[in-house]
Amino acid sequence: MVSTKSVIATKSGLQYLPKSMDDHIDSSPNQELLPLTAKVNSLDHLELGGLDVPALVEKFGSPLYILDEYTLRTASRQYRDALKKYYPGESLVLYASKAWSCLAVCAICGSEGLGIDVVSGGELYTAIRAGINPTKIYFHGNNKSTAELIFAMAMGCVIVVDNWLELKTLVALQTEKTEELQNPTKIMVRFTPGIECHTHEYIRTGHLDSKFGFDQNQLNDVFTFINQQQVLSFVGIHAHIGSQIFEVQPHQDLADVMVDAMSTAMAHNLSIQEINLGGGLGIRYTETDDPPSIENWVEMVSKAMVNACQARQLPLPKLLCEPGRSIVGPACVTAYTIGSKKQIPEIRTYISVDGGMSDNPRPITYQSIYGVVVANRLSQPTTETVTIAGKHCESGDILIKNAMLPETQAGDCLVVMATGAYNYSMASNYNRLPRPAAVLVGNQEVNIILQRETYQDLLRKDILPERIEISKN
Ligand code: LLP
Repeated sequence: MVSTKSVIATKSGLQYLPKSMDDHIDSSPNQELLPLTAKVNSLDHLELGGLDVPALVEKFGSPLYILDEYTLRTASRQYRDALKKYYPGESLVLYASKAWSCLAVCAICGSEGLGIDVVSGGELYTAIRAGINPTKIYFHGNNKSTAELIFAMAMGCVIVVDNWLELKTLVALQTEKTEELQNPTKIMVRFTPGIECHTHEYIRTGHLDSKFGFDQNQLNDVFTFINQQQVLSFVGIHAHIGSQIFEVQPHQDLADVMVDAMSTAMAHNLSIQEINLGGGLGIRYTETDDPPSIENWVEMVSKAMVNACQARQLPLPKLLCEPGRSIVGPACVTAYTIGSKKQIPEIRTYISVDGGMSDNPRPITYQSIYGVVVANRLSQPTTETVTIAGKHCESGDILIKNAMLPETQAGDCLVVMATGAYNYSMASNYNRLPRPAAVLVGNQEVNIILQRETYQDLLRKDILPERIEISKN
């Protein structure tokens, strides 16, 4: 029998290299910890997209977000192709750009045929500037401003209506501003389907305590109202039940609830062309995370939709889903440089890096757990248990507790895995740290997609009123 001790001693960063390396078949990116192109090279360094990670950090600075184009495209295609394979009707995948909204990510998803889900004027502007066809942009949000609505309507986007105020504002705007706006505006209705997910479990309730969407029992009134409006073009219904979900059942149940709502709409003489089941498929952040593959998720959900429609003898609507995390999360890592080390005997060893909660606020916000490798010592056995601390002036700024690392020294390149989703998009300038750069790697090429912020950038919006004297003492 192998002792636990020897198993731990033989562990190294190599264990996180993707399975697909050996058999040349792409695995589902959301089931991998490292991007699909991850390899170890002759220097014992981690390589992504055919490029040496420590060398990228040397060239582009630290910390650095490194986005692997192949993994991003593979996840997008797996969603798109699985829907074509398993869903007999029309389908469209929307990338939920809240996970990471920038020109390059939106443009890559767009070039794979995906539409984009946006939740603000800023995300909408980014998607438009990335060349996304506005008819494939779906605008969400529980409190869209009038200016945001006018922007989206003028572009011809689909508006996912969340509440009564928005519905009535849309009718008023469309009636007042017929010349400026595309006519009629396409709308979907978002409602809370009574399915609540807490990552590893879910419950079904009659009513949900959620700020998003109409309550299910308001649907009759909403449909009656919409039916009377000439200026709106109703295309379908939307629901989103949660994020980082490891089970397929909640979305299968959701399909049933949605098709029920479709019958309700039809009873009001409204035809439903599209049903959007939201996003939510989970990804692997640590070895113990075990999400279903993208293909498996799409297959099960598609079948549930088909069965629900057949059971009620309804035509198949166009099926939409809007994944964010599972598209971009596994495609990116964050590389840091190791700095100071503090050993507190019998308590803990802290290793500090040159970023932290400003580039990855998820550990401090949600107690999220991440995996880590040392990119310049990939095959060295992990022998030390350390706590990886950020550099912010805040005790809670801890990136990873109890990480297993090989012996490291200052200057080593530490890579936190699966940081593509909700990292850059939630990054801040806390303690006036400039946001890191992001580079895109693929086929041994590298491009900067987000420049590193400078100190000048930090002062770009600062104004010192003239009446405040600069102290000369
Ligand atoms: N659609 C809607 C309406 C959503 O609210 C969301 C996520 C998505 C799609 C995409 O869900 P995904 O496939 O990424 O799970 N900041 C949190 C996650 C917030 C998710 C918000 N909504 C985090 O870092 O875990």
